[in-house]
Amino acid sequence: MLISPSVLSCDFSNIERDTLMLHNSKADWLHIDIMDGVFVPNISFGFPVLEAIHRHTDKTLDVHLMIANADLYLDAFQKAGANILTVHYEACTHLHRTVRRIQELGMKAGVALNPHTPIEVLSEIGHLLDLVLVMSVNPGFGGQRFISNTDNKVSRLREMREKMGANFLIEVDGGVNLENAKMLSTAGADVLVAGSFVFNSANPTDTIAALKAI
Ligand code: DX5
Ligand code: ZN
Repeated sequence: MLISPSVLSCDFSNIERDTLMLHNSKADWLHIDIMDGVFVPNISFGFPVLEAIHRHTDKTLDVHLMIANADLYLDAFQKAGANILTVHYEACTHLHRTVRRIQELGMKAGVALNPHTPIEVLSEIGHLLDLVLVMSVNPGFGGQRFISNTDNKVSRLREMREKMGANFLIEVDGGVNLENAKMLSTAGADVLVAGSFVFNSANPTDTIAALKAI
């Protein structure tokens, strides 16, 4: 299981300290949530913050775009240090072109699905993807409650991946904690994102290690 702690829940007045904590922890990737106030009802941060994180770690930067018009910014995210760039199915009209462009830029391409979006929408594109991000909350905020039945969606996605002969990783994002992590692992998740559960814990480094050990 790969663990991708979400920096959205870090202390932004101590971003260097928190990035180094993640860098020195068992975290495999760093999950970076970009919100524009248009696609989702919240605004997080943009390029200067991503660049700052990039200066303090060479771990994989797993960038989750919750923005409209992602096509306008793909090059800029690559330059800012993104290794994986995930766009929302619901926000991309020409998804095939967007995915191809991300890969041409040398990044891995992911597609995120909102809780209400069926996995079948990926039937014509799944074989091209490096990652599918299954949202287990409605995107926009950290600290929300995990939507039950996401494990079922993950196991159906795993079956679909096998039938298609695709090899994307399955990542789950939202409300992940030690209580649901095991169930998600059994269902077939390859990567777990955890924000508030890590940063609100007494010892984030130990919490990451505990998630890694499930
Ligand atoms: C929600 C974001 C998540 C968020 C997860 O829109 O995409 O990555 O940071 O935070 P928790 O783990 O607190 O639900
Ligand atoms: Zn996210």
